[in-house]
Amino acid sequence: MELFLDTAKVEEIKAGLETGCIDGVTTNPTLISECGKKFEATIMEIAELVKESNVKWIVNAEVTQVESSTAMITQGIYLSKLHQNIVVKLPATIEGITAASCLARKNIRTNVTLCFSVNQALLAAKSGASYVSPFVGRLDDIGENGTELIKQIRIAYNNYKINTKILAASIRSPFHVSAMALIGADVATIPFSIFEKMFKHPLTDNGMMRFKSDWETFTARSEIKQVNFTR
Ligand code: E4P
Repeated sequence: MELFLDTAKVEEIKAGLETGCIDGVTTNPTLISECGKKFEATIMEIAELVKESNVKWIVNAEVTQVESSTAMITQGIYLSKLHQNIVVKLPATIEGITAASCLARKNIRTNVTLCFSVNQALLAAKSGASYVSPFVGRLDDIGENGTELIKQIRIAYNNYKINTKILAASIRSPFHVSAMALIGADVATIPFSIFEKMFKHPLTDNGMMRFKSDWETFTARSEIKQVNFTR
């Protein structure tokens, strides 16, 4: 499963990249507005980080002109020209999916976002979208089962050998991430705070402390001296 960071904060993206475990980034108008910087400048700043990473790396930029499919197509074309690694995010409405179909015919990669049903995921696939983003946490928030939706979309896509990638979004916990991997989501996009938590296990920390203290006790008692590995 690929891991994307769900953030527009450049410092979080840099930190994620350093670990070598991050394959891309998703942004949305809310995340960009929280940075307090201009939309285009933020997207460009993130896209430029691609140079320091591998070529597969992608940046999801969401349309903000959503009043009609024509407006989304115009903005989508504009966004796609900003950088070769940009994928255009469009909402799972009739206008958004119509725009996604038009952009796909122009070989522009799209991500149909705000997906909350199998039917929306099927329509996203019909449009030729590269990704569909079902929102797991927001379904859980209203008492539905977001994880179950990912399972159902996986089954429907497998039934018809659909290539559109399932990008599990609105991930709220490390548990969600592992659940997505077990179901077979293609990508999970996660906030940086959850990415950090994925590294954590109390037994790892305890084990490290035990190894360190046992080794220090042993070397203090014996002739063996600590080796200087910096030579
Ligand atoms: C996905 O692309 C969205 O940016 C994101 O996952 C939304 O998550 P939220 O429900 O936590 O806002």
